[in-house]
Amino acid sequence: MKKTISGFSKLSKPDKVRWVVEQFFQDPESAEGELISFWHRDEEQQRILDGFSENTLSNYYLPFGVAPNFLINGRIYAVPMAIEESSVVAAASSAAKYWLSRGGFRAEVISTKKLGQVHFSWKGEAQKLRRHFGELEARLRLDAAHLTANMEQRGGGVLGIELLDMSHLEPDYYQLKVSFETCDSMGANFINSVLEEFGSTLRIFVQEHPAFEGAEQQLEVIMAILSNYTPECIVRASVECPVEALAMGPGDPMSPEEFVRKFAKAVRIAHIDPHRAATHNKGIFNGVDAVVLATGNDFRAVEACGHAYAARDGQYRSLSHCAVEDGRFRFWLDLPLALGTVGGLTRLHPIARRSLELLGNPGAPELMGIIAATGLAQNFAALRSLVTTGIQKGHMKMHLMNILNHLEATEKECREAVEHFRDKVVSYKAVREFLAMSRTEEGKK
Ligand code: MEV
Repeated sequence: MKKTISGFSKLSKPDKVRWVVEQFFQDPESAEGELISFWHRDEEQQRILDGFSENTLSNYYLPFGVAPNFLINGRIYAVPMAIEESSVVAAASSAAKYWLSRGGFRAEVISTKKLGQVHFSWKGEAQKLRRHFGELEARLRLDAAHLTANMEQRGGGVLGIELLDMSHLEPDYYQLKVSFETCDSMGANFINSVLEEFGSTLRIFVQEHPAFEGAEQQLEVIMAILSNYTPECIVRASVECPVEALAMGPGDPMSPEEFVRKFAKAVRIAHIDPHRAATHNKGIFNGVDAVVLATGNDFRAVEACGHAYAARDGQYRSLSHCAVEDGRFRFWLDLPLALGTVGGLTRLHPIARRSLELLGNPGAPELMGIIAATGLAQNFAALRSLVTTGIQKGHMKMHLMNILNHLEATEKECREAVEHFRDKVVSYKAVREFLAMSRTEEGKK
């Protein structure tokens, strides 16, 4: 059967669906019906969603939930989260509530500098570039003024331009490293437009400047693009309280002192061992990504940057830190976060817009704080479970419910199964057998 096509993008949406289901599905009718059943009932909303991407067939749903009771810098938030993994929203909510009565989270934006690069080859003398860099910089700024004027009015723009000689690493390789302030926008389009303009100014400068006469063949602009590694666009989220205040009350699995000892050790292990660090940071990103996604931000950019930052000294390490001094427990997270609360999807996606409204329409720095606090909460909740009861206890209940849903258990069967599996290992087979048995017994009545 022919599974390739040219001109697919020009087909109407129903024709795209039809072609795909006929080529790739066992039961085209049912696949087509299912894909179409997820179209938005409101055509205008669907048009907006289709506008975000290309060749759309349907919408891919994820649960959109909320973690209430987040006290961050003295303000209460209900944090929107879009995530498919069970227990994540529950863990964030429980950590938020736990810290609500212990002073809440503090978030501090340390800096908001974004970066971009023009990568180029220069076969001429390095000295010549350096000597005329001042003139080049002025020309770069002048030629890009039509692009930067608006951003400058909002308080941002191009902060600095550096010329880097990287020819010791790659023959003839140089870079313009450009730093930007993009205020409340993530600024990807702005940065890339300015960098491409810089690339053409660089070419023109070498063509036109008398000092570079005949040298235009020695220059080649390779590419101009933002860097997703923004170690100076960074926020710190922290929690802190006396060790004894960590007690949870009757039924505590261990004393606060024992808890802190194991907790701090767990964080140190994530600093030492990259295998643990990856899992530890994954837990942080469970919270971070869910809010990044819910607010229409670029989670791939945030992940790429966070992991690059975690490996900044040459070894991949934990993004969070813990200290116990003078009887006080401190736990904090430094996270690079390049975010926007205007532009991009943030105001176009209806649910992203609602998420921002739910958060009180924060600017980008405030959102950085909220997201870092959610990441820290998630990390705290995961470590608390890991060093006390283990995470399977909580996870297994969700896992059980997922299996019961899959097996179409009734409400009564769910209640009985939760009771039955309270002290037993949950597996698909065990749940199926339990249901089969109780359904047979029910049939006998
Ligand atoms: C699971 O999604 C995340 C955890 O593995 C994080 C951790 O181990 O710290 C529980």
